[in-house]
Amino acid sequence: MSLATRLKPAGPTGFGANSTAEKVTEGLSLKGKTVLVTGCSSGLGAESCRVLSLRGAHVLGTARTREGAERFCAGLQNRATGLACELSDPASVRSCATQIRDAGYKLDAIICNAGIMATPALQQASGYELQFFTNHVAHFLLVTSLLDSIASDGRIVVVSSSYHKFAPKGGIQFDNLSGGRGYSPWAAYGQSKLANILFAKELQRQFAGSKKLAMSVHPGVIPTKLARNTGSAGQRLLNMLAPVFLKTVQQGAATQLFAAVHPGAAVMGGAYLADCNAVRSSRHTVDPILARKLWDVSERIVREL
Ligand SMILES: NC(=O)c1ccc[n+]([C@@H]2O[C@H](COP(=O)([O-])OP(=O)(O)OC[C@H]3O[C@@H](n4cnc5c(N)ncnc54)[C@H](OP(=O)(O)O)[C@@H]3O)[C@@H](O)[C@H]2O)c1
Repeated sequence: MSLATRLKPAGPTGFGANSTAEKVTEGLSLKGKTVLVTGCSSGLGAESCRVLSLRGAHVLGTARTREGAERFCAGLQNRATGLACELSDPASVRSCATQIRDAGYKLDAIICNAGIMATPALQQASGYELQFFTNHVAHFLLVTSLLDSIASDGRIVVVSSSYHKFAPKGGIQFDNLSGGRGYSPWAAYGQSKLANILFAKELQRQFAGSKKLAMSVHPGVIPTKLARNTGSAGQRLLNMLAPVFLKTVQQGAATQLFAAVHPGAAVMGGAYLADCNAVRSSRHTVDPILARKLWDVSERIVREL
């Protein structure tokens, strides 16, 4: 536990930066619940799956390959199912959704956790900038393909980042979603994480009148494999800062698990959470016209994939 997290007080939910995934689920029985987690084999996804399983949930964990997902799921305490979901490959995402639908699962939560950060040079998937595609479009495709499989009080949790504040000036560069008209690794990451929040906001608007919830979260800053693209200097810096400023993986997974399964989050539909509490996000995230436009554009993108 770092010095900074130790000094931060808990928020109105009773949880804060110090809280771990085990702490926020203490006393909860998730027996009979089914939770889908993308990116199960590393970092925050792995810790989320471990703790969900510990509390009795049936975890559906996805990784790039079925073998990778099954290998990870075999080590979990409770029943767990590994599925392939290579986010940069629409066929893989669709096949994952089809398997879940065909198996007849009712999903109590989906945690859209997998992500990449700051790929140094422009890379594309299906003609779109890779971070936008992996972090946003693929999760949009997965979730919208599974809307009929979500339990009547199911929750969608989209893992975003405080870095959404560093999205390009206008928010989402709709005229440059390929990255071909200019690419900055960090602005592209910020844009993809802004898209995560806008997706959750618009989804929540569409859930109005039901008990379904959509939320987005910032997990904190945690030394995981996410920083692999920042080179060895970036990794060294993270490791140096960890004891003073950073969260542990156990703390980092707490906010997404709070949002996904804690009764206290049932009143937080549409919210953006950090340290297990609803917090403010950038002005772009509360622009319903931008959220609707992103939804419409995302629908068109996945229709054409
Ligand atoms: N760590 C932080 O400080 C921090 C801060 C803010 C937000 N976040 C967010 O938290 C989430 C989890 O990140 P993390 O820190 O746990 O990072 P991580 O350890 O790198 O885990 C990311 C996971 O996403 C998977 N993934 C990446 N690209 C994929 C693809 N194309 N298809 C399928 N799976 C893919 C990775 O699989 P492979 O291992 O096979 O690549 C890995 O399992 C991300 O959305 C990230 O943006 C993290």
